[in-house]
Formats: sequence, structure tokens, C-alpha cells
Amino acid sequence: MNTPVEGFSKLSKTEKINWLATHCTKNPEASKKVLERYWNEDPQVQKIHDEFIENTLSNYYLPFAVAPNFLINGKFRVIPMVIEESSVVAAASKAAKFWLDHGGFKTEILGTEKVGQVHFMFYGEEQKLKDFFTQVKTKLLSSVASITKNMEKRGGGINDIELRSLDDKLKGYYQLHCTFETLDAMGANFINSCLEQFAKTLKSEAKTYSRFNAEEAEIEVVMSILSNYVPNCLVRAEVSCPVSAIQERGISGKEFAEKIVRAIEIAKVEPHRAVTHNKGVMNGIDAVILATGNDFRAIEAGVHAYATKDGHYSSLTHAKIENDVFYFWTEIPLALGTVGGLTSLHPMVKLALEILDNPTAKELMQIVAVAGLAQNFAALRSLVTTGIQKGHMKMHLLNMLNQMGANEDEKKQLITYFKDHTVTNASVKEALDKIQSQ
Ligand code: MEV
Repeated sequence: MNTPVEGFSKLSKTEKINWLATHCTKNPEASKKVLERYWNEDPQVQKIHDEFIENTLSNYYLPFAVAPNFLINGKFRVIPMVIEESSVVAAASKAAKFWLDHGGFKTEILGTEKVGQVHFMFYGEEQKLKDFFTQVKTKLLSSVASITKNMEKRGGGINDIELRSLDDKLKGYYQLHCTFETLDAMGANFINSCLEQFAKTLKSEAKTYSRFNAEEAEIEVVMSILSNYVPNCLVRAEVSCPVSAIQERGISGKEFAEKIVRAIEIAKVEPHRAVTHNKGVMNGIDAVILATGNDFRAIEAGVHAYATKDGHYSSLTHAKIENDVFYFWTEIPLALGTVGGLTSLHPMVKLALEILDNPTAKELMQIVAVAGLAQNFAALRSLVTTGIQKGHMKMHLLNMLNQMGANEDEKKQLITYFKDHTVTNASVKEALDKIQSQ
């Protein structure tokens, strides 16, 4: 069925859909209808979405929800979340309510430094390169003046440029390791534009540096790109309360707190568990990242790299009991933006930011870190008490009933029935069959 196609991007949307439906689907008419059903009825809104990427055919819906009742540094927040997993928003809301009753979340920005690098090869005498860099550094900075002007006016710009040698790891490999302050912008375009100019200046200045020989004067720039590893763009979120206050599901507060601490100790030493533990953290983080139009791949890559900072993959959250107080916290790198990119283009992103009271990037970092911490708390709370399936399957029940074709009345009856019965695929099927045969 699949065949190569020439000039696909130049076809009209209708032509693309026709080609796709005919060549890649079993029932072209039905496939076309699915794609068309998800178009926005307002052509202006659809146009915005069409132009985000190439070859847009339709829109792909994910649920947009909110988790209310988050008390963060004394301020109430309703957190918008975009995610497909049935139990995530319910879990976030429950954790928010739990900590609302126990003092709320506290957060702190530990750093906002972004990173970018010019990777280049130099096979000459290292000391000469160092001397050249010392001489050319001011020129590198002035060569990007037109790019940095506006950012500097707002208080941001380039923090520093360092020459780093990685010659011991890869023969001839050096970097300009550059750090930036991009304020409320995620800053990818700003950083990459600066880096590409640094690379040009580096190359051209090397050609005229009198101490370089002919070979040394030909610096080979390999690439210039921001890094999504931002260990100094860091936010801390925490909760704490006396252990006596968190009595939980038939066990004492002390026992509950100890079980959470133990669960985190396990995630700290065992990568299989750490990955799943952190996946739970990312359930909360990604959902807010998506709702606010940020780049979830960048965040995922950076956060997981940070989870290995002590030499092995480990938990992103931490807990301890000290003087009968339970402390639970995370420190997590989050390079986020609340201006630029999708933030002013996507109507749902604009609304999500408005729900959050149009936060600065620093405020958004704090909200996102809280969402991750809350999600992890909710998962651990279930895991160390009732087990995860009870809540998870309850939330999944509606998906199952929809899949099995239950009507509204049957759904209502079965949701009531499964309030005190165990949800499994077989038990739901059996209960639905029973109702339908009556
Ligand atoms: C499921 O999406 C997330 C959990 O597996 C996280 C965890 O195990 O901590 C429940």
C-alpha cells in the first residue's frame, strides 16, 4: 500500500488527505471523515494549527483538564493539565487537597542559567588556543550585540563564555561553553542565534591570529546548539508536616511517612524502580508542560539526565523524617518559557497561562515542580497503602465501558456498582453482559 511520493509538502491539504487515505488506509472514505471531523469549525483557528508544522492534516485531541486547590507559597493555584492517562489529574487533585490540609507547598528558584555550546576541533598547541580565546572573548561578545540588545534591556543576555578542552576524551575536541539568562523566554532561538554568531567570529578571528600556524588557523566548527541539560536552571518544591498529622488509610502517620521514605530509598538505589518512580513525577510535569505550550522533549531529556547526576540513575524526589516531622521535596531542572513560542499562538496555551495568572517563567518553574512532586506523592501514597490498581482501575472504568460500547444508563449503573467491587477487564465485561441480558 505504501509507496514513495514526490513533492508531498507542496500538495494542498485536500490532496494530501486524498493521497494518504488512498495509499495508507483500508477505508479511504472513512479515514477522510475522521481527519475532517477533527478540524476546527473556525477556519482562522484551524489555520493557526495548520501552520505550526508541515503537512498538517487535522488536529489530535488530548484532554485539557485542571487540578484545583494547589496552595503554593500561600497562593491558591488551579493547575491546567493536558494528558491522556486516566488517573493523573484525579491523583494531582487529591494530593493538592491533602497538602492544602497540611500547610501547602513551598518553592524556591535555585538558578535560571541556560546553556549553549559551540563544538569545534583544534589540533594545534592548546596553550595557543587558550591565549587566542582570552584575546578574542570581548570580540565574541560584541559580535552578538545586535542579537542581545533587547534581551539585555530587559535584564538578560549572556552570562559568560568559557573555553573548555575535551581533548582527553576526543582528540582535538574543544567547546565554547556559554551560559545565558533568557528571563521569561525558553530562549532556544536567542541562544542558537548567539552561538552561530560566536562560531562565525571564532572561525574568522582564528584566520588572522598571528601566533597560529596555517593548520591551527583553520578551526573546524562542528556544530552550535543549546543544551537541554540545565542543572543550574533549578527549582525546589517541598512539603512538610508533623508525622502525627498524616495518619492514612488505617496506618499511623509515623508508619505512613516511614513507608514513603522507604519507597524513595528504594528508588534511589534501584534503577528499574527509579525509572518508574520518576515516570510518575513526569506524569505531573509533562501535563503542565503540554498545557502551557512548553517543550516536553527538552524537559524530559534534561530531567532524566539530571537524575543521573550522582553517577547512577536515581530518584528525583527525596524524603526524610526529622524530629517527628515528615519532609518531602524535589529539586529539578526546568528551562521553561511563558513568552514566545506557542505561548502567544495557541489559544488553549494562552488560556492555560491565564488560568495560572500569567506567570513569569520562574513562577511557572515552581508550579511545574509542585505538579511533579504532588504526582509522586499521590502515586507513593497509593503504592504503599492500598496499591495503585484500586484508584487506577476506577478511573479506567469509564474508558473500558466506552470501549465495550456501554450506553449512558449502563455506565451510570456500573459506576455505582464498581464503587465497592474490584475493577478488572473480566469483571466489567461480566457485569455489563449481565445488565444487557436483563
Ligand atoms: C503510572 O503512570 C505512574 C506510577 O507507576 C508511578 C510510580 O510507580 O511511582 C504509578
